[in-house]
Formats: sequence, structure tokens, C-alpha cells
Amino acid sequence: MKNKSMNNVNQLLLLLLFFVVTVVSQGHAPFSIVKEKVTHLHFFYQERLTGDNPTAVLVAQPKDTRVNPSNLLPFGAAYVLEAPLTEGQDPNSKVVGKAQGLAVSADQDTTVAVFMVDYGFTSGEFSGSSFSVMSRNPILETDRELAIVGGRGKFRVARGFATLHTNYMNITSGFFTVEYHVVLFHYE
Ligand SMILES: *[C@@H]1O[C@H](CO)[C@@H](O)[C@H](O)[C@H]1NC(C)=O
Repeated sequence: MKNKSMNNVNQLLLLLLFFVVTVVSQGHAPFSIVKEKVTHLHFFYQERLTGDNPTAVLVAQPKDTRVNPSNLLPFGAAYVLEAPLTEGQDPNSKVVGKAQGLAVSADQDTTVAVFMVDYGFTSGEFSGSSFSVMSRNPILETDRELAIVGGRGKFRVARGFATLHTNYMNITSGFFTVEYHVVLFHYE
């Protein structure tokens, strides 16, 4: 008998808790998933590592350790980047946004930058919106893929992938042009 009444009390508590959770979640629901959209984006990432306005700067690296001297980016090096995104392959073509974030050299054997980067747009339908990349980027491979794990504005709760193709690379001058084809699944 005692157990049974305890069960009833527990059930009542659970019901109350459910009610509270439901009310609270409804009260805080400025965003609701209506219909998933698929958006394709195409742009070019312009890297300039030399000159007065480099698009990436070294902010930290290991003091006394050089794991693999042939690695273009020393293992453990961290770079902050802000690079223009353009409409065309020509670096002087219209700027449509910028990539901002952190790239860390996190592979002991090959040249890999792990990108934690926000790609924000300043023109067109997605002006003011951005998507977030958190992905391994083997920069010396001509073709590669980045994971898109989130976004802001029209790209809220986005996920997707970007396929990258290096169109131009000059290691001496540090000029790179990388073509991006992006597929995004989002709701707004
Ligand atoms: C690469 O950059 C260097 C330094 O700016 C330049 O001298 C060289 O001509 C460039 N190479 C090509 C293939 O554009």
C-alpha cells in the first residue's frame, strides 16, 4: 500500500514537471522549425600572407619544439585570420563577405590547418548571416571538404559542407585563391 501511494506521488510529480517543462519551453520558443531549406553558395576565399594587410597572422607557436621541419605550418602554430570572400576568382572582384577565425596547425606529419572559422556575408540575400566551420583543412591538397556545424541569422542551426578547390597557389608570395561550393541545410 505504501509503495503504491509513493508511485502515485511520483507520477504526480512527473506530470507536474512535464507541465512546467512544457510551459517553460513554450515561453522561450522564438524559433521554431518550419521547413528545411537547402542553399548552395559559391564564392572565392582570398589569402594574402605577405604585405601590409596579411589575411592571417601567427599568434602563437611552440617555443623550442619543431616536430617536423618539412611541415609548411609548424605543428602547434595558431593563426588568426580575416580573409575576404569574393564573387569571382579575381582577388579584385566584388567582396561578398569575410572569413574570420582561428586556424591551428594540428597534424604532426602533414600540413593541416584545423579551421574554427565564421564565414559572414555582407551582400545579397544572406547579408548579415554567417555559417560556422569547425573542420580539418589539409591546405596543400587541391581538393578538400570542410564541415559546417552551425550558423547565425538566416543560417541559424545550419549544417552542411563546403567543397574546396585551390585555384591559385604561390607559396613564395603567400597568395592563395580557394573556390568554395557550399551546401547548407537551414530553416530561414
Ligand atoms: C610567386 O610569387 C613570387 C613572389 O612574389 C613571384 O616572384 C613569382 O613570380 C610568383 N610565381 C608565379 C608562378 O606567379
